[in-house]
Amino acid sequence: MTTTTRRPTSRIDTGSPGYADNVEANVALATTLAERLRYAIDGGPGRQRSIDRHLGRGKIMVRDRIDMVIDEGSPFLEFSTLAGYGQHDDADGNDTVPGAGIVTGIGLVHGVPYVFIANDATVKGGSLVPMAIKKHVRAQDIADENDLGVIYLVDSGGAFLPLQDEIFPDKDHFGGSFYRQARLSAKGLPQLSVVLGGCTAGGAYVPALSDEVIMVEGIGRIFLGGPPIVKAALGEIVDADDLGGAALHTRVSGVSDEIAATEAEAYGRLRRWCEDTNQRRIDDPTGWLDVVESEPPAFDPEELYGIVSADDRIPFDATEIILRLVDASRFRAFKPEWGTSIVCGFARIHGHQVGIIANNGIIFSESALKATHFIELCEQRRVPLLFLQNTSGYMVGSDSEAGGIAKNGAKMVAAVANATVPRYTVLIGGGYGAGNYGMCGRGFQPRFLFAWPNSRLATMSAETAQTVLVDIRLAGMRGAETTEEEVAAMRAEVGEQFTTQSDPYYATSRLWDDGLIDPVDTRDVLGLCLALAARQPEPEPGRKIVYRM
Ligand code: COA
Repeated sequence: MTTTTRRPTSRIDTGSPGYADNVEANVALATTLAERLRYAIDGGPGRQRSIDRHLGRGKIMVRDRIDMVIDEGSPFLEFSTLAGYGQHDDADGNDTVPGAGIVTGIGLVHGVPYVFIANDATVKGGSLVPMAIKKHVRAQDIADENDLGVIYLVDSGGAFLPLQDEIFPDKDHFGGSFYRQARLSAKGLPQLSVVLGGCTAGGAYVPALSDEVIMVEGIGRIFLGGPPIVKAALGEIVDADDLGGAALHTRVSGVSDEIAATEAEAYGRLRRWCEDTNQRRIDDPTGWLDVVESEPPAFDPEELYGIVSADDRIPFDATEIILRLVDASRFRAFKPEWGTSIVCGFARIHGHQVGIIANNGIIFSESALKATHFIELCEQRRVPLLFLQNTSGYMVGSDSEAGGIAKNGAKMVAAVANATVPRYTVLIGGGYGAGNYGMCGRGFQPRFLFAWPNSRLATMSAETAQTVLVDIRLAGMRGAETTEEEVAAMRAEVGEQFTTQSDPYYATSRLWDDGLIDPVDTRDVLGLCLALAARQPEPEPGRKIVYRM
């Protein structure tokens, strides 16, 4: 391991007025994020009535359930808490399906990381709206890529029937979740279920496809058709517990392996089961990545609030961001004096070696080539890649085209797509146009993608779209008369569309990321993600040739 002993230096003036303005704006964004997360966790119209009913039945709230399973002091990295945000609002603007009614994330059980998929029965009976299915399937894909077992805490009314066409039939819909579950199990990744509510129809297959199942007496039920369906189909009148309760399934049908009298007892047994799963711990010393003792950054991560520009048209220095994310603020830049609109270099995050690629604005040919060269270096050396995305895209214009920006950008995109080392992306500012692709946007399947609350994601900025789309519309009108007011109205309409759709809450609602995070939490989130990769067996070695660009 080589480290530089030079003291890191920063050019940030924490006493400047610009810094204070940025702090004010970014703290406000972080506060709004915290409020919206809180609402997703326990807000929503009529929710208190559902919560009271849930607790009145002796049931435990979904996040408390997870707390009872994970190790004391274990982190819980929750994904997409704001899934569905703004998609199910009532007339008063209240979200009727907060958090999409499902909680997913990663926590430790006996030091082993597991993915949790847990229904929130206080939101529409835990039934699955489109974004809940997307969240469920995404959590399974995270388990697959990171070699993690899955713990299902099942308390769900199954498909949310009014939207059944958006949940049921397609590749990544409900069927896709069962397909994944069966394949995860076959890959040797434990699939463990605790049944805490009704599992009807498709929902019955979550426990039925699990490797081991516990049912909690009095609340857990599994049936392909509930009592009303049985009555309608067969004229048989049967009580829910007799049809599919814990006693029937544990002692008669064998669908369940154990019965627990209480939730607490079930979680104790589940933890005991996890001792027998033969999975690698988070700190497995036989991992393939270079990991040393973690050191805090030399510069306070809170200073990120003062560096990220309050005005998204004003660029900010990527190196200053990196210095507040990495161990001891130690960063060795690669080709620091060439292609400077991209910053590349080596650092550590919580002891894990990482190759960082970060934007300093527009991507020019040289910057694209530098990034391509650096990706090849990381691929050759087996160093994970972290993309810090903040770009308005690749450079346009005749000079740029003549310089071959299309093929140079394509080299970067191809290198990103084909890198076999773990890749992670944080959207720290703008993610516009093909720059989003070259910087490992969602389409390039980074292992995890998190976004800051100041970020923007769209084909182009609202200002650019106003020019482009209005010009296209006017050209399409083939010289027909338009008043200034009509043009202004067109501009306003396009501006509003792009502003709304590039908002980070619009993106996170649709799972274009794995969650919005407060900038100050970025280092810890990435540290956990990197630790997951470090415990895995080494993937197939990638291409080792480094072409100098
Ligand atoms: N689709 C749409 N909404 C559903 C639903 C489903 N599959 N399951 C439950 N809900 C809604 C209810 O309409 C109710 O909505 P509200 O809060 O707006 O009034 C809320 O979830 C709570 O349901 P409720 O029946 O009052 O709660 P419960 O705790 O007594 O029972 C279930 C929960 C899940 C056992 C029960 O609702 C149920 O059996 N649902 C249908 C299950 C089913 O047949 N699914 C087929 C899936 S393919």
